[in-house]
Amino acid sequence: MMQKHIAVLKGDGIGPEVTDQALKALRAVSEVYNHTFTYTEALVGAAAIDAVGNPYPDETHKICQSSDAILFGAIGDPKYDNNPNAPVRPEQGLLAMRKNLGLFANIRPINTYKALNNASPLRADLIEGVDFVVFRELTGGIYFGTKGRSEDRNTAFDNCIYTKEEILRISKLAFEAALKRRKKLTLVDKANVLATSRLWREVVQEYAKNYPDVEVDYMFVDNAAMRIIQNPKYFDVILTENMFGDIITDEASVITGSLGMLPSASVGSKVALFEPIHGSYPQAAGKNIANPCAAILSAAMLLEISFGLNEEAKIIRKAVEACLNEGFVTEDIRRDSKITTSQVGDKVAELIIKKKESLLTA
Ligand code: IPM
Ligand code: MG
Repeated sequence: MMQKHIAVLKGDGIGPEVTDQALKALRAVSEVYNHTFTYTEALVGAAAIDAVGNPYPDETHKICQSSDAILFGAIGDPKYDNNPNAPVRPEQGLLAMRKNLGLFANIRPINTYKALNNASPLRADLIEGVDFVVFRELTGGIYFGTKGRSEDRNTAFDNCIYTKEEILRISKLAFEAALKRRKKLTLVDKANVLATSRLWREVVQEYAKNYPDVEVDYMFVDNAAMRIIQNPKYFDVILTENMFGDIITDEASVITGSLGMLPSASVGSKVALFEPIHGSYPQAAGKNIANPCAAILSAAMLLEISFGLNEEAKIIRKAVEACLNEGFVTEDIRRDSKITTSQVGDKVAELIIKKKESLLTA
């Protein structure tokens, strides 16, 4: 029996409706396993700009810091996208949150589901059995380097900076993960062009000596982008810097067949944050049609990574798989489906409550 406190940041667009389904799964788990989870909601993103003029208010930061884990929905609103001069943008909230909470590693597992083989743009024989995880550095690099414009406004720059320390701390997590998996790690960089990438390579080459059982290889990011499509089964653990990780994880996410299936974790020194990979999908907001699986699976990652509740995480994953196998899916997976976001959430919760034993042996 465990007592834990979770900060819930539903955010923008479909964030609130998919997060609500993840909460149903957490409530079902706490009922079945007698845990006590308490929740505090806080504002983030465009919702926070509208309410208090700041996409990551201090109040939200305090709530996050004093929680055992953070469940996050999505951030972003189209009213800011086409306005390069907007004084504050929802995405700044996400970046501030990552930086202020020290969430230096973003973990994005990519795996496929048999039931979705036909939904993937890749051939079934290429994707069956794909199972890799990307460790993306999240608080450094070009995202956070000095940015600026010249006085005449005709020149702009974004600095890309990395320190050895920043590379080492995420390398440790990635190597440890590789040890528990198929013991293969690929560093993705652009060492043929970038000084920061050469530092990454140097640091990782040296650090790899601590893990003689892990086979390490090095791949330029352009080549990696190609290989992820040509032969995704090749990869086990990918380690990469912030912007390369941003790009290749979106690329990798389509392999599964729906962006709506993929969870992620952002971890650092203290509290960790869990969120679906997909964005705020504003066109679908409030329509009860978005796929809540990524959010629900993010709750499973939360239980596993932050609380060490492996069986509870497994039962959530099994319940989601059961929905897929029964064809109980939203329209992103089957175009003519009328099944709603909340129906999938209810079904997952119901499966968890009713079928605990049979799900675990399935
Ligand atoms: C992501 C997103 C963010 C990023 C945006 C919304 C700032 O694309 O989490 O991958 O670029 O990191
Ligand atoms: Mg991205």
